Amino acid sequence: MTEKQSNATLSLFDDFPENDDKLDHQAAAARMRALEKDLERWNYEYYVLDAPSVPDSEYDKAFRELSELEKQFPDLKSPASPTQRVGGEARSDLAKVRHAVPMLSIHTETDFEAQGAQAFDERVRKGLGLSETDDDVAYDVELKFDGLAMNLRYEKGILVSAATRGDGLVGEDVTANVKTIRTIPLHLPEGVPDILEVRGEVIMHKADFERLNDEQRLDGLKPFVNPRNAAAGCLRQLDPKVTAKRKLSFYAYGLGEVSAAVALTHSGILDKLEKWGFPVAKERRVVKGWKALAEFHDWVKSIRQSLPFEIDGVVYKVNDLAQQNELGFISREPRWACAHKYPPEEAMTSVEDIDVQVGRTGKLTPVARLKPVFVGGVTISNATLHNEDFIAELGLKIGDTVVVRRAGDVIPEVVRVLSDRRTGKERDFVMPDHCPVCGSETFRDEEEKDTRCTGGLFCPAQRRESLVHFASRLALNIDGLGEKVIDQLLEAELIKTPADLYKLTDEKLLSLDRFGKKSAANLLAALEKSKETTLARFIYALGIRHVGESTARDLASHFRSLDKLMQADADALLQVNDVGEVIAQSIIHFFEESHNREVIGELLAEGVHWPTPEAVAVNEKVSGKTFVLTGTLPNMGREEAKALLLALGAKVASSVSKKTDYVVAGAEAGSKLEKAQALGVTIIDEAQMLELLKGQ
Ligand code: IVH
Repeated sequence: MTEKQSNATLSLFDDFPENDDKLDHQAAAARMRALEKDLERWNYEYYVLDAPSVPDSEYDKAFRELSELEKQFPDLKSPASPTQRVGGEARSDLAKVRHAVPMLSIHTETDFEAQGAQAFDERVRKGLGLSETDDDVAYDVELKFDGLAMNLRYEKGILVSAATRGDGLVGEDVTANVKTIRTIPLHLPEGVPDILEVRGEVIMHKADFERLNDEQRLDGLKPFVNPRNAAAGCLRQLDPKVTAKRKLSFYAYGLGEVSAAVALTHSGILDKLEKWGFPVAKERRVVKGWKALAEFHDWVKSIRQSLPFEIDGVVYKVNDLAQQNELGFISREPRWACAHKYPPEEAMTSVEDIDVQVGRTGKLTPVARLKPVFVGGVTISNATLHNEDFIAELGLKIGDTVVVRRAGDVIPEVVRVLSDRRTGKERDFVMPDHCPVCGSETFRDEEEKDTRCTGGLFCPAQRRESLVHFASRLALNIDGLGEKVIDQLLEAELIKTPADLYKLTDEKLLSLDRFGKKSAANLLAALEKSKETTLARFIYALGIRHVGESTARDLASHFRSLDKLMQADADALLQVNDVGEVIAQSIIHFFEESHNREVIGELLAEGVHWPTPEAVAVNEKVSGKTFVLTGTLPNMGREEAKALLLALGAKVASSVSKKTDYVVAGAEAGSKLEKAQALGVTIIDEAQMLELLKGQ
């Protein structure tokens, strides 16, 4: 990029005074040249390369600013200004097709709300000379597909040419590629006009787009930015075989040249097209009056996300062709149609910083602090970045210029980094190794790709959640201690950790709103009662990640003492039913955190207690002994043998050490057997192990 170009780009993104009356002649000239340059470049990227570097909203913003300046300073308007173009320029290496009937664009209502529909209806009524007492105008209302306009020419019922819109007068011949689109009929039934041009939109369905991008990534190629660009790229492929593999779709919405009339209304035309075998979207109706237009706009907005393809608005068309004729055209746009769009879902902004939030379950979530930007109908200043991997995949640095997306009610997301806008001042983001809320160490949960705070019972961010869990029915089952009371207690700073619950007094409770003598006494009684619990409930109540009620029970009957559980290493934990590497690590992290141990100590000091759990049927020869299994056993699989041993309270380790009691060796036992021999560990075979299991 030349220095001049990069200046132009930067000036656009800086807060340049938009439509500023005070902009002097010289400054306006400089600004206009900069805008022209950027718009030209973006046009080229969009139409020729099918790879836009900025979202449409940014293009539109610059386009509007330039049009505005051209109005204010007509003498500065360049004859080759990008505002003079109807559409894109045709790609030089594709054959040109002159359209028999120009492919026009339609007026876009800039008001996203109901007023947009009202303004259009008013213009139409005025154009038709209708008074307030006259009937409502009938409109055909349909979807505004976000793809590429296409003209399909049929002569004597046979598809002879398919052309893009190009600049509206001359388009590109893409017949060979269009023929690969399965839903486009190549032959039409008897009775169609000799010359029939069908116009519509070539699009790529969202699912086909995702599939294509997965393939692009697998092949080490750059994924497409959106379905429309993917469709454009496929359509202009030189090899139709490539186009055929990437699924494109087509929806008809009108006519070009015809040698005979098709119908008297627009809806009649669409019905005919459907009958002749063209795909026509079913989301269309004929309605009367502007309120019905606005209703359709609202309804489509509500189903937009569930449509299989992308749309960027709806289109209203006067239904009666005679009325269309009467209305005619104004500056290359029909007066009888208009597009009513939705606010852009993508916009460009910059990431000013990346903060880390701690959720109620201890998950650390990086959040992008954005320069505020209007997108999806609201101004946003934050976007979630999910986790470390998400940031790495985006290649995002603090200070980057990015494209953010807010589709429907989905939370805003950063979708792309515009890395060619880097200045060199950007910084890498590093996930903190200590919780930004409580200072406890964090750890990465590899399975879930999350980073988590180990603060558990201590971390203020996790407090509410852990207290609610602690009091819940399957945990310490504290009657009358629901979320509302917990919120009240936290707000009044009467509690921080579960141990504080047992320090509550009559007096403290009575200071709270809605707490009378009776409710205070009831809560204190419930707390007293909860002190007598079971080890399983207590372990569950701690809220250790991944330790649900059944795992807590297994841990309790396996270790039979809290102390033993707290001291257990990974090997010891892995002996427990259903405890794998992830759960084991989570338990270890929890007890390693001194804050958690302190809270447990306080709970015990407050009198929380439980009876020692019953031991499971003890087989003295096996229980508590450490086994290592190696080689192929003659009758049972290693997993089966391990399960039998564990069920009887044995430990099964993966490597041989001096602490190993037995090595069970099968065929082709290797280094473990050698080590056992070297250390003098007892070596037995499968039959001997079975004897031990019988307790004999
Ligand atoms: S009618 C003379 N109907 O929107 C009226 N256009 O500027 C011709 N578009 O790129 C257009 N969905 O390809 C019409 N249901 C629809 C449409 C639609 C999408 C596109 C069209 C063109 C732009 C109109």
